[in-house]
Amino acid sequence: MRAGIFDSGIGGVSVLKSLMDSKIFAEMIYYGDTARVPYGSKDKETIIKYSLEALEFFAPFELDYLVVACNTVSAYALESMRAKASYPIIGVVDSGVLALQNALQDKDSPILIIATQATTVSQVYPLALNNLGYHNTTSIATPLFVPFVEEGILEGEFLHQCLHHYFKDLQTPPKAIILGCTHYPFIAQEIKSYFKGETLLIHSGEAIVEYLRSQGIYDIHHQTQVEFFSSENSEKLKLIAQKLLAL
Ligand code: DGL
Repeated sequence: MRAGIFDSGIGGVSVLKSLMDSKIFAEMIYYGDTARVPYGSKDKETIIKYSLEALEFFAPFELDYLVVACNTVSAYALESMRAKASYPIIGVVDSGVLALQNALQDKDSPILIIATQATTVSQVYPLALNNLGYHNTTSIATPLFVPFVEEGILEGEFLHQCLHHYFKDLQTPPKAIILGCTHYPFIAQEIKSYFKGETLLIHSGEAIVEYLRSQGIYDIHHQTQVEFFSSENSEKLKLIAQKLLAL
C-alpha cells in the first residue's frame, strides 16, 4: 500500500516515524509545504486553499491513503479535501481523541491540549473530548515550540523557559496532554519532565498507528520506502528529516 503523508512542513516527520516503525505501508510519499509553513498562524480559508493544493501535488502518485499529519489542516480542511479525493484521508485529531479515550478512563481528569493558534481557536479537541464526557480540558496555544524544534533546540534552559512561559499559570498539573501539533513529539521528554514525568502524553503519530490498526489496516512490510518532497528546497527537508528520524 502506498500512503501520502502531508504536513505544513517538517514536523510531520514525527508521524512518519511512527508509521515507519509500524511498517503498515510499503511506500510513503512525504510532502511538506515548507515554502508556506507555518499554517498555524493562518486563517481558515488559506489553510483550506493550501491543503487543496497539496492534493494536486499527490495526484500523480496513485495513493491508497493520505495521512494528514498536520493538526492545523486536520482541524480545518479535512472535509474539503475528502470531497475532492478518490482515496481515504485520515487526520490526526480523531485519532488523537481515540488514543486519549483508550488511555484515560477517568472523565474528571484534567486534560491539557497544546497546539498552534489556529488549532486552538478551532476548538476541535475540546469539543470532541467534551462530547465524550471529558469536561476538564484546558487549551493553550504554544506556537513558539515550533521554531524550537525547527532550530533543533530539543532540550536545555532556553526551551525550559519557554515551557515555563506557557505552563506557569496552570492551577493543576494535567493528567494527560494532547500534543496537538506535529512538532511537539520531538520535545515530549522535556514536556514530560516539566510535569515531573507523571503526565500521559498523546502523540499524533502513535495515535494514527493505533487508529489504522483499529480500522483493520494491518499490512506488515519488512521495508518501508520513503520519498521526501517539499514546496521549496527538498534537499534541506531531507537533511532535517534524516536528523529527526535518527533521534
Ligand atoms: N504542522 C502544524 C500542526 O501540526 C504545526 C506547524 C504549523 O503551524 O504549520 O499544526
